Amino acid sequence: MKNFRFYVPTVICFGKDQLASLAKVRESGEKVLLCYGGGSIKKNGIYDKAVAILKEAGVEVFELSGIAPNPRIDSVRAGVEICRSEGINSVLAIGGGSTIDCAKIVAAGACYDGDAWDLVLDGSKIKAALPVYSVLTLSATGSEMDAFAVISDMGKNEKWGTGGDLLKPRLSVLDPTYTYTVSKKQTAAGTADMMSHTFENYFHREKGGYLQDRFAEALLKTMIKYGPVALAEPENYEARANLMWASSHAINGLISAGVQDAWCVHPMEHELSAFYDITHGEGLAILTPVWMEHVLSEETAPKFAEYARNVWDVREEDDMKAAKLGIEKTREFFFETMGLPANLRAVGITEQDNFDIMAKKAAAGCVGSYVPLSADDIVEIFKAAF
Ligand code: NZQ
Ligand code: ZN
Repeated sequence: MKNFRFYVPTVICFGKDQLASLAKVRESGEKVLLCYGGGSIKKNGIYDKAVAILKEAGVEVFELSGIAPNPRIDSVRAGVEICRSEGINSVLAIGGGSTIDCAKIVAAGACYDGDAWDLVLDGSKIKAALPVYSVLTLSATGSEMDAFAVISDMGKNEKWGTGGDLLKPRLSVLDPTYTYTVSKKQTAAGTADMMSHTFENYFHREKGGYLQDRFAEALLKTMIKYGPVALAEPENYEARANLMWASSHAINGLISAGVQDAWCVHPMEHELSAFYDITHGEGLAILTPVWMEHVLSEETAPKFAEYARNVWDVREEDDMKAAKLGIEKTREFFFETMGLPANLRAVGITEQDNFDIMAKKAAAGCVGSYVPLSADDIVEIFKAAF
């Protein structure tokens, strides 16, 4: 196991009726910038409750609304402008990963003497940030408990992840009932996203990370058990709660500590989102089984067999056969059980003109991944996923 530093400063207030803990925002100062998306938090009533709690605590609330899925740098810039002109003390995101990610870069951009896009391109430039708070409404990205943010400039077809300890939320409210209104499409995409985070950490080269691998398998089993339940019964508390807690742990460092290699399916998916503005989790679901098949070899078969046996209870002694059965189970789960789109055409990608340029950009992010991928490998994967 490699040496590691594990640092998660986020206070998690998990369960029903935890919103009152937002009064803590007052400790960071009188003025908060409340960030949210297209209005789901107004429909389900969280907005009214949160604003009332903040006002009661003596906090003045400013707003940045309309944050889009695959959040845009333009929204970040608008938020930074409000922070500067109003002397904002902290940033509160209420929403899914897009809202939280946008809020994180607003918080850092407000303390940066320059354009916030610099911070997206180079996380080492994040030297200060306003305190970030979050109320999670969609289980998927883990942004509520991690150091990362992913921001897009659609005009340039660019989508990049950045990160830093200062972006980790101070406090996050995780109330599973807030995810009852998440659509079937987003529930399925969120499940695929959290599974992909787990895969990115699970398929690694480090020997001796036995505990991390068992943690990862437990997370995958939880997602596989409860994803379909949440689809069939959106208000099943047990399912929503297990998915919510599993999604946070898939990316908060618990399963990557001591074993981490570079990720590879995410860099490929980010190119799909950057060029075609698709839903992140759907892109991951489409690419994952194709990637698994592409990197399966005599050398990697034992690891894929371990996955098949420990996660899917495959009973097959031959490693290659077991590995193939595990990949087949993954495919069935995504495309049949969870009803996710099975190929790129199903999410509206009807031409292959950009595959070469997308693959070149993605290849840079795959350096040092479980099985290194060249731009040619990635073009093959995109074509097989088409
Ligand atoms: O905008 P509103 O009206 O809130 O609607 C959202 C949005 O349309 C809706 N939604 C959220 N909570 C809801 C709800 N609808 C009904 N009821 C609720 N309770 O869901 C839609 C999608 O929301 P979004 O925030 O875009 O989804 P998600 O959480 O999947 O975030 C995706 C973004 O996060 C990035 C992705 O690349 C993508 O940009 N990622 C962030 C990561 C991180 N910070 O660590 C890692 C991930 O790998 C990922 O890349
Ligand atoms: Zn993801």
